[in-house]
Amino acid sequence: MKQADYPIGVFDSGVGGISALQAMIRILPQEHFIYYGDTANAPYGTKKTEEVIACVRRVTDRLLERNIKALVIACNTATGAAAYTLRRELTIPVIGMEPALKPASEVRKDGDILVMATPLTLHQEKFNLLMEKYGEGAVRVPCTGLMELVEQEDWKGSRAYLENLFAGYDPERVDAVVLGCTHYVFLKDMIREMLPARVAITEGSEGTARQLKRVLARGHLLKEGGEGRVELETSGSPEDLEKMRRLLNHTIPE
Ligand code: DGL
Repeated sequence: MKQADYPIGVFDSGVGGISALQAMIRILPQEHFIYYGDTANAPYGTKKTEEVIACVRRVTDRLLERNIKALVIACNTATGAAAYTLRRELTIPVIGMEPALKPASEVRKDGDILVMATPLTLHQEKFNLLMEKYGEGAVRVPCTGLMELVEQEDWKGSRAYLENLFAGYDPERVDAVVLGCTHYVFLKDMIREMLPARVAITEGSEGTARQLKRVLARGHLLKEGGEGRVELETSGSPEDLEKMRRLLNHTIPE
């Protein structure tokens, strides 16, 4: 089998990265994806950087055993913690994600940009650099506990969490909201309803999928035809696998 026909490894701490996987399947329908949800070790966002790197290494080793041709870190937290290390150590392309602050800064008028992400993402050096470039008017909004509600598919609890969160800000002053954690993308419609229609909501799934396509094309690694397929794996339970399947079929309007 030629390398272009090998699978693409994608992972997150749980179901969040499935929101990015959906965009990848849309943009690269012929590819074979292996998605790994590290549910047994979730959440990553409240761990220390070294702990996240250790989790990421375990997941990556597993995916490498499957002969993947590229690795997508479908997690903002793990990208900030481990992308640099992985890029240095691996010979295959590594594609990461970061909070979509740049597109938010492009549509900002003179109001605030609320950057929702995990506490670890918001404290990382990588994020500080992003803030230096595009952070005018940006406010760090750590959302401890929100990924867990998505993991539990607790949409009622998520709504209550978000209502409480946004009550702390004047909606008239908000120009954009950045969904800086792949789990929050599943809440995009809900957030849309809660904020004035002019507020932009940005997230990185589409951009990541396009970047993956560019990187594969550059390395002559695009699979040329045939049927695409998706395999789901988890460090969690069979129920976690079922949940991953359900969320993969949950449609997110663009
Ligand atoms: N989905 C991950 C992200 O994009 C983080 C969730 C977690 O805390 O594990 O940041």
